[in-house]
Amino acid sequence: MKEAIIVENLAKRYGSIEAVKGISFTVREGEIFGFLGPNGAGKTTTIHILATILKPTSGKATVDGYDIVREPQKVRKIIGIIFQDPSLDEELTGYENLYIHGRLYGLGGQSLRERIEEALKFVELHEYKDKPVRKYSGGMRRRLEIARALIHIPRILFLDEPTIGLDPQTRVHIWEYINELNREYKTTIFLTTHYMDEAEALCSKIAIIDRGRIIALGTVDDLKSRVGSDVVYVKLYGDNNEGICRALQLADVWSCKHIQDNVLALQVEKASEAVPEILKYLEKLKVKVKEVNYRRPTLDDVFIHLTGREIRDSEGGFVDFARMIHRARTR
Ligand SMILES: Nc1ncnc2c1ncn2[C@@H]1O[C@H](COP(=O)(O)OP(=O)(O)OP(=O)(O)O)[C@@H](O)[C@H]1O
Ligand SMILES: [Mg+2]
Repeated sequence: MKEAIIVENLAKRYGSIEAVKGISFTVREGEIFGFLGPNGAGKTTTIHILATILKPTSGKATVDGYDIVREPQKVRKIIGIIFQDPSLDEELTGYENLYIHGRLYGLGGQSLRERIEEALKFVELHEYKDKPVRKYSGGMRRRLEIARALIHIPRILFLDEPTIGLDPQTRVHIWEYINELNREYKTTIFLTTHYMDEAEALCSKIAIIDRGRIIALGTVDDLKSRVGSDVVYVKLYGDNNEGICRALQLADVWSCKHIQDNVLALQVEKASEAVPEILKYLEKLKVKVKEVNYRRPTLDDVFIHLTGREIRDSEGGFVDFARMIHRARTR
């Protein structure tokens, strides 16, 4: 299998802000590659550079063998992109939005009409094609954006946060389209997300990006195996439990991360054996425990393990909310 995307030391600076700090990775043909990271990590910046919308400050990248800086026109011909923010014309019908896009790509006549019909059927919007987009729901709009990106049959599709702000049922529906596209049309897919479940449901390979750097790269299983086996969460009564976390670290048996004021996350080989030991140890330290539970590691745990923070931090939640409002207003 050939490499569809090759990125070497790519960096982007906006004035004094280093949004992307020299990242390198490759995406294989036919892969669904996920770029997972919190708000402000540099995901959109990277996708925009690869789609030739932004120029990198330094570094190199090729998309389907074409250099993104020297051959942007060739790159644009073979890619499709779905932007993070809505980009449909509200006053036009679904059909008209797709038609204009096809014309921009030099398509026309019967073949364009056929492509539009096929794309609309693919995302199950055929019966709504003559309604203006302003009457579409959020999920229908996202589906129309997918259809639009498919009109010129891209070999590589970029999706920037494909399901942000959508309800759980619609998200699963969109995942099905993405999977089918990859399976049936062999489209290589590069998607960004800050949803762990999305990365896990879709991606054969994941790069975790944080503050402009790739901090881990691999399959979901590769990434999870970095954490160890189980994760035990211990909820305490008081705040400021940094010291307790350090004491547990010093016990040299468990790796402890302090994730919220009163919650500690401990990585253990086997939770059923470790929990009584941990409780005994905390009792010795005269620490009162409010609640204990454990689970198999998730991508969330991988992120905590690597950064000491949760991907869905409070700021992220707010930014998400603000974006939903923005989308609702622009829709
Ligand atoms: N045009 C710009 N001018 C200045 N700074 C920018 C610009 N675009 C992005 N940034 C900054 O670059 C960093 C990376 O932003 P980017 O949009 O790539 O992140 P992201 O991972 O897509 O985040 P999100 O999950 O919020 O979409 C952030 O600190 C952001 O504030
Ligand atoms: Mg973004």
